[in-house]
Amino acid sequence: MAVALIILGAGKGTRMQSELPKVMHEIAGAPMLVHAMKAGESLEPSRIVVVAGHGADVVEAGALDWNPLAQIALQNEQLGTAHAVAQARDILEGFEGDAIVLYGDTPFISEQTLQGMIQARATNDVVVLGFEADDPAKYGRLVTDGDSLERIVEFKDATPQERRIALCNSGVVAAKASVLFDLIDAVGNDNASGEYYLTDIVGIARGRGLSAGVVICDEAETLGVNSREELARAETIFQRFKRLEAFENGVTMQAPETVIFAHDTFVGRDAVIEPNVVFANGVSVESGARIRAFSHLEGCHVSRGAVVGPYARLRPGTELAEDTKIGNFVETKNAVIAEGAKVNHLSYIGDAEVGKAANIGAGTITCNYDGVFKHQTVIGADAFIGSNTMLVAPVTVGDHAMTASGSVITSDVPSGDLAIARAKQDNKTGFGKRLMDKLRAKKASKNKG
Ligand code: UD1
Ligand code: CA
Repeated sequence: MAVALIILGAGKGTRMQSELPKVMHEIAGAPMLVHAMKAGESLEPSRIVVVAGHGADVVEAGALDWNPLAQIALQNEQLGTAHAVAQARDILEGFEGDAIVLYGDTPFISEQTLQGMIQARATNDVVVLGFEADDPAKYGRLVTDGDSLERIVEFKDATPQERRIALCNSGVVAAKASVLFDLIDAVGNDNASGEYYLTDIVGIARGRGLSAGVVICDEAETLGVNSREELARAETIFQRFKRLEAFENGVTMQAPETVIFAHDTFVGRDAVIEPNVVFANGVSVESGARIRAFSHLEGCHVSRGAVVGPYARLRPGTELAEDTKIGNFVETKNAVIAEGAKVNHLSYIGDAEVGKAANIGAGTITCNYDGVFKHQTVIGADAFIGSNTMLVAPVTVGDHAMTASGSVITSDVPSGDLAIARAKQDNKTGFGKRLMDKLRAKKASKNKG
């Protein structure tokens, strides 16, 4: 059956103390909202509705940036979770399938759990995701009778007896979309908070003779973020998860707790990630590559057998072919480095193509920016760029060509040529010693006086 996601993200998140809407705060480089969308997308939903309120423009941009098929429902006043879901009604008008309600500030729901909920829908009109809380605190409680869920009671409205129930409400709910909206129509706000509680749909469904059931997940999956501290804790949990995933994929890390992954980092089998490496978004590292200590990578691809760092910075658009070497204090950006090429020391290679087996000497800079425009540098196969060469782009150095150390290259170098572009050296016979003697004598007479 077709599935629609309804992801709630209208709340302000007061405790975040932030200008940014809560669901746009990031874990491993992706807004929490995107984590929730990613989990829901494993169900291959045909519709995705994000309910936005506070900072709706920013939330909309974030949702569409991740998935252009997402649709935004506005909830101008936050009158409760049932009211939030009701805002998705117009967008889902006529939708025949199941709807599943997720939360933009609950990033860790697993794909398996969501699959389990959809399966449980086959035998229940309403399915609620519950968990056994270590400390049930202020969660809503699930009131069950055998396998049947009878109703959900919010902590504020619960009797002392009901507060002793350990089975808590995660908030995630699945039902046929048309049934969900029918039930929501009957929800009132006569309760301790004066809010329209989504949780009330269970009691209403049971009263109408519909069935309701519970799927239970691990408490960790339902972790919600309400403060900066909880955000940091969520980041820690996510990093631990990514490291385990890397180990399971055959990656070696000597100090895994110092390696920071992005939500979408991919590292292949037998790759080695040395300590203190940071992956920003959009990085893939192929099998057998080695990322040496203290390197920072973003938006780049590292092929088999490449060695990066220590202390390298690969910026977006960097493509390293097999067996390339990027050494210490080298920065690359929009740079395609062909097989076996080396940029070993202290260089900036931006908006550039470097040919097969080319050697880029220490301190080489591609001068790609004229203050307004960016320009391209092309370096041929087997070229040898002397140390401290400035390549003033746009410029091309041909195959097998060389540049002399310290050259400022402003025009193209034909294949096989050697370009020398620096002042000619002039040796003054004996001048060095004579000048030094004079300076020393001057210092000696000063110290006497
Ligand atoms: C909700 C559940 C509670 C459950 C808990 C789990 C209800 C009534 N209660 O309580 O049973 O144990 O989650 O964390 O559903 N939101 C909107 N618009 C609104 C109200 C909320 O978009 O008008 C969004 C919030 O941004 C938030 C989420 O829905 O992301 C949950 O709302 P919140 O008010 O935090 O519900 P809880 O009181 O935590
Ligand atoms: Ca909450």
